[in-house]
Amino acid sequence: MTHRIGVIGGDGIGPEVVAEALKVARAAGVELEEVPFDLGGSRYLATGEVLPADELERIRHLDAVLLGAVGTPDVPPGVLERGLLLRLRFELDLYVNLRPFLAGPGRHNDGADFVVVRENTEGVYAGEGGFLRKGTPQEIATQGSVNTRHGVERCVRFAFALARGRERHRLTLVHKTNVLTFAGDLWQRTFGEVAADFPDVDTGYDHVDAAAIHLVADPDRYDVIVTDNLFGDILTDLGGAIAGGIGRAASGNLNPDRTGPSMFEPVHGSAPDIAGSGRADPRAAVISAAMMLEFLGEDEAADRIAKAVGSSEDVAGTTSEIGDAIAERL
Ligand code: NAI
Ligand code: MG
Repeated sequence: MTHRIGVIGGDGIGPEVVAEALKVARAAGVELEEVPFDLGGSRYLATGEVLPADELERIRHLDAVLLGAVGTPDVPPGVLERGLLLRLRFELDLYVNLRPFLAGPGRHNDGADFVVVRENTEGVYAGEGGFLRKGTPQEIATQGSVNTRHGVERCVRFAFALARGRERHRLTLVHKTNVLTFAGDLWQRTFGEVAADFPDVDTGYDHVDAAAIHLVADPDRYDVIVTDNLFGDILTDLGGAIAGGIGRAASGNLNPDRTGPSMFEPVHGSAPDIAGSGRADPRAAVISAAMMLEFLGEDEAADRIAKAVGSSEDVAGTTSEIGDAIAERL
């Protein structure tokens, strides 16, 4: 079966690491039809376009999207984040941001193995708020956090189902219920009610500040973490730092209901400081491609890629040399 994959290489090292990810996926024997999209900072600077409606429409009909990274130093902050990355998450209803962390042998925190399920369409990222009297000494800026019962419940349910399928079946809710008493209350109540449907999953709760300490001091404490959009954004950068570094952190923006394509991307950015030098580590993109294949039902290929990456710790070299070495180890 051929999968139609939208490929957004993006800027900087994005196209470099995505090329290696696709090379490895093809070497694993998966049939891919690549549909390229020229989106990102370079396109914006050249044409002023971020995500034209007809391109979004074409993306809706794909099986999945693989994204490298977008961002060039000359693009003002927010243009690509809101106009492309968040827009794709909202428009395609990619309501789960799944980020697995696995510290391989020889790494700091060897054996740490946890997954963060981050709600991906609500919270403070929903863009509720605005300015009043902007630019004056009386200026007011508000930024609301949007939490719907529907949005929280579908994310929490996904996390419970994921935890059920893992060896330790343990799920921890991370929030700040003692201070964010409205949103936190909705999350905690929803979590408790959904838990009744998953009696085989052990549950726990940590405040987000305590979770930051535990993740560093004792990452084994966690199996699956479920949390809101902002806390998840921050905790997953921390997760990357404690389990293998930015060169290993992969993510899936999932539409678990499969009403459209899901989007997979390394957590790192476009790294303009090393773009074009061959120094980009493609492993985070390769792991993201493996997550994509697993989501498309290619479990066997995904598993082989994950193992090949895991056994590639000794491999050094340029971006494409690392890609070649992983492909050979399949
Ligand atoms: P970054 O992740 O691009 O780079 C941070 C540091 O990590 C740099 O020193 C870079 O050389 C290094 N690095 C990142 N990925 C690497 C890899 N695969 N191999 C080796 N070294 C790697 O984050 P930064 O510098 O904050 O952002 C650069 C640009 O990327 C900005 O325009 C930013 O907006 C954008 N960005 C895009 C993201 C996305 O498309 N999802 C995510 C994060 C940042
Ligand atoms: Mg982030």
